[in-house]
Amino acid sequence: MVKPCSHVSSNCSFFCCLFVSSFFVNSFFSLPFPRSEQIEFLLAFKNEFPILKCDFRDSKQKTNSWTSKDVESFDGVFFDYETGAVTKLDLRAACLSGTLSANSSLFRLHQLRYLDLSSNSFDSFSFLPELGKLTDLEVLHLSYMGLSGEIPSSFSSLNRLTELDLSNNEFVGSFSPLLNLSRLSYLYLSNNLFSGCVPCSLLTTMPFLSYLNLGENHFTDSVETLNCSSSSSSNLETLYLNYNHLSGRILEPLSKLTNLKKLYISYQNTTDPINFVSSGFKSLEELDLSGNAISRLNISYSNLKVLLLDNCGINEFPIFIKNQQKLQILYMENNRLKGEVPKWLWSKPSLYALLLSDNSLDSFEGSPVMLLNSSLNVLDLRSNAFRGSLPIISHVFMLVSNNSFTGDIPLSLCDESYLEILDLSHNNFSGSIPRCLSNSSIKYLDLRHNNLTGRLPDLFNNSGSLITLDVSHNQITGKLPRSLTNCTNLEYLNVESNRIADTFPFWMKDLPRLQVIVLRSNMFHGPINSPQQPVSFMQLRIVDISRNQFTGSLPHDYFVNWSTPLISIPPMERKLLYVGVDYSSTYHPSMYLRNKGINMELEKILEAYTIIDLSENKLGGHIPESIGLLKSLVVLNLSNNDFTGHIPSSWANLTRLESLDLSRNQLTGKIPQELATLSFLEYIDVSHNNLTGQIPQGTQFGGQPKSSFEGNLNLCGRPLDHSCFRDKAPEAQESEPSKQEQVLNWKAAAMGYGPGVLFGLAVGQVIYSYKPVLFYKLFRL
Ligand SMILES: *[C@@H]1O[C@H](CO)[C@@H](O)[C@H](O)[C@H]1NC(C)=O
Ligand SMILES: *[C@@H]1O[C@H](CO)[C@@H](O)[C@H](O)[C@H]1NC(C)=O
Ligand SMILES: *[C@@H]1O[C@H](CO)[C@@H](O)[C@H](O)[C@H]1NC(C)=O
Ligand SMILES: *[C@@H]1O[C@H](CO)[C@@H](O)[C@H](O)[C@H]1NC(C)=O
Ligand SMILES: *[C@@H]1O[C@H](CO)[C@@H](O)[C@H](O)[C@H]1NC(C)=O
Ligand SMILES: *[C@@H]1O[C@H](CO)[C@@H](O)[C@H](O)[C@H]1NC(C)=O
Ligand SMILES: *[C@@H]1O[C@H](CO)[C@@H](O)[C@H](O)[C@H]1NC(C)=O
Ligand SMILES: *[C@@H]1O[C@H](CO)[C@@H](O)[C@H](O)[C@H]1NC(C)=O
Ligand SMILES: *[C@@H]1O[C@H](CO)[C@@H](O)[C@H](O)[C@H]1NC(C)=O
Ligand SMILES: *[C@@H]1O[C@H](CO)[C@@H](O)[C@H](O)[C@H]1NC(C)=O
Ligand SMILES: *[C@@H]1O[C@H](CO)[C@@H](O)[C@H](O)[C@H]1NC(C)=O
Ligand SMILES: *[C@@H]1O[C@H](CO)[C@@H](O)[C@H](O)[C@H]1NC(C)=O
Repeated sequence: MVKPCSHVSSNCSFFCCLFVSSFFVNSFFSLPFPRSEQIEFLLAFKNEFPILKCDFRDSKQKTNSWTSKDVESFDGVFFDYETGAVTKLDLRAACLSGTLSANSSLFRLHQLRYLDLSSNSFDSFSFLPELGKLTDLEVLHLSYMGLSGEIPSSFSSLNRLTELDLSNNEFVGSFSPLLNLSRLSYLYLSNNLFSGCVPCSLLTTMPFLSYLNLGENHFTDSVETLNCSSSSSSNLETLYLNYNHLSGRILEPLSKLTNLKKLYISYQNTTDPINFVSSGFKSLEELDLSGNAISRLNISYSNLKVLLLDNCGINEFPIFIKNQQKLQILYMENNRLKGEVPKWLWSKPSLYALLLSDNSLDSFEGSPVMLLNSSLNVLDLRSNAFRGSLPIISHVFMLVSNNSFTGDIPLSLCDESYLEILDLSHNNFSGSIPRCLSNSSIKYLDLRHNNLTGRLPDLFNNSGSLITLDVSHNQITGKLPRSLTNCTNLEYLNVESNRIADTFPFWMKDLPRLQVIVLRSNMFHGPINSPQQPVSFMQLRIVDISRNQFTGSLPHDYFVNWSTPLISIPPMERKLLYVGVDYSSTYHPSMYLRNKGINMELEKILEAYTIIDLSENKLGGHIPESIGLLKSLVVLNLSNNDFTGHIPSSWANLTRLESLDLSRNQLTGKIPQELATLSFLEYIDVSHNNLTGQIPQGTQFGGQPKSSFEGNLNLCGRPLDHSCFRDKAPEAQESEPSKQEQVLNWKAAAMGYGPGVLFGLAVGQVIYSYKPVLFYKLFRL
């Protein structure tokens, strides 16, 4: 199956995407003297694809604009300055589909030196051999095209190629057509169906090859593999072998590649643990062994800068790391490390990032002052067993959540002017939040699930930098500090489950980026409506003020200017909002919410996920008619209040609504028929009101449990037992679905109705698996 670029599942493919998009930019000029027959060929090519089908992300119908009237119109085409011939054709994701025939005009552009047809889906591959006629080609990209079969033998005539990308297809078989390509520097073969031995012969016949990506195939190692060593003079610098079935035998021959700098050998799906003891790998700077069981590990040369050993089942720090003085990044998450973090780690002069989460470490060896002196910028100790007080906070990214730290938050954090992310959540910190935080440039502050007391300090005077503030599940008292209005970058505020006693923060409407407010389970009180200060937020998408003591009624135009994202036309597709922008792949706060009657923790907050939860307060009066303006609303919960009157009938515009809870109010009259038209609506609860009449009939209503309607004066119709028509025989009774079934129903419904949600989550997962690469991208100079 053809997969768009964003769905790749390994580091290497991600790299190649990046690489491709940045390569060759501006290498050629588009110039106004193309030869007329070249224009003809191009227009003929355009006409071969009258129907453009954009299946890939970031697709662009480049050929659409092509016209003989204007040279500039040839998007993706580069003409040679001197000869006027087309030398470069970049048609990546150009929405081409159908048949690219073997006699296509494309193959008449004989001077082509660069051709990119990636991410187009042609329905037959008969054109492939023809590419062998474009013998001037230096760069050829054919990734994500669903290509299958063997590499065509005609490719052996492309002996000027320096770069060939066949990745993310379903190629099988032999590499012999490539053996003639002696000028290749970059070869991408990842995510295909190649099997057998690692083709070391490539290294012998391609003296200039510096980048070889064989990841995500079915390679195994065997004795033949040993022939790799005969290519010790090779110039290979980067080798990807991740996601294959290699057992480690390959390592000895590879260790002879004297120029090899980067070796990625993560996630070999074999049962044998890898024994990586070598006196070779002279130049090795980056080594990725993640996801492999490792029996022994020792490399005698000490040039390593990046070492990835996460998910390896390692139970002690490999001692050879001690000699790696150039080490900058060390990943050892999700292993079986326990006890102390050794002292020698901190003294590494260049160590920049140390990721040790998901182990059982419990303390630091030596004086914590050493931590202050270390060169670390990123320290991740999440989900370990650290106890006692946190010695020091001295790093730009400091993540220690889900340990058992106790005591006060150390004041040393105030000396750290570069602190950007501080995650102390899920510990047992007590005392108050240090006032001096106002001097820091902190962006993400996550203190939830601790035992912090006192007021939320006025700590935001100087810091326009704050983006996320989460102090939920503590014992904070007092009021919300008004100085928060100075946090013009604030996007996310969560103070759930504290003892804050304040009025509704109308003043927050001045925060231009605020998207999420959660005030749930506190002692907020007073009206949420003010004639003096109309509620009007600029970017608010999620507001949960449930379980407080808000009172008063709401005028019928209450929601008219509520927030732009809520009343605007919803975006087509839900994307994930990564609250942490830079470190986003590993750091994002989650939030709890109740959707469809279920408490859930939303790990990553979906952009365009919109929620209004006013439940469990003392709000009264009528439900404002203007609720019908909140076009992008997904979850609405008004339950457990004192709302009276009829359910307004203005629902027709709320086409995104998935969950509606009006239960436990004093609503009277009928359930409006309009609700039956909302096709996304999967959960409805109107129980315990004074409603009467027939329950609107529609799939959404029929699928609800009886309990969603019980406790009303006089409701009738499915799913309740009593029919509205006395003279009619009672309808066949359906047994109420069990809890389990309900959950499954929602899941099924979500698949049917909300593919965006699942798509978003899938992408999130994939992005998460890119972590190491994003990391390099961010921190390498
Ligand atoms: C290619 O050949 C087919 C027949 O094999 C013909 O129908 C088609 O018109 C030709 N296309 C071009 C662009 O010459
Ligand atoms: C291999 O390349 C050489 C020139 O470098 C060429 O003469 C020869 O025909 C090519 N072999 C094949 C099978 O195309
Ligand atoms: C190694 O390669 C040579 C030719 O380069 C070949 O003759 C030999 O059989 C190969 N050895 C193994 C073990 O495959
Ligand atoms: C590992 O290999 C087995 C059989 O070779 C396969 O069933 C399984 O899906 C593979 N696992 C992964 C994570 O690739
Ligand atoms: C690692 O290799 C070096 C050099 O080959 C050797 O001196 C050292 O003893 C080895 N360490 C371990 C733990 O095997
Ligand atoms: C920290 O580093 C400075 C200079 O780099 C050194 O003088 C001092 O002794 C170090 N402190 C500790 C506790 O190692
Ligand atoms: C906290 O850590 C424990 C193990 O130490 C783990 O099982 C659990 O999933 C972690 N919880 C979170 C929220 O990360
Ligand atoms: C916090 O302390 C309490 C009581 O001392 C204990 O029950 C709880 O497990 C601790 N929580 C964590 C996350 O260590
Ligand atoms: C939280 O702190 C209070 C005193 O400040 C203490 O009485 C209580 O036991 C602590 N709770 C936990 C779970 O540690
Ligand atoms: C916002 O910051 C300015 C100075 O940076 C300060 O004078 C002002 O009092 C702050 N506003 C609030 C509400 O604290
Ligand atoms: C639906 O939205 C439009 C504005 O886009 C508004 O004029 C209309 O009154 C709304 N309908 C209801 C039933 O609220
Ligand atoms: C709802 O019905 C109950 C009795 O069923 C009644 O006591 C109450 O006054 C009614 N409330 C309204 C608002 O009609």
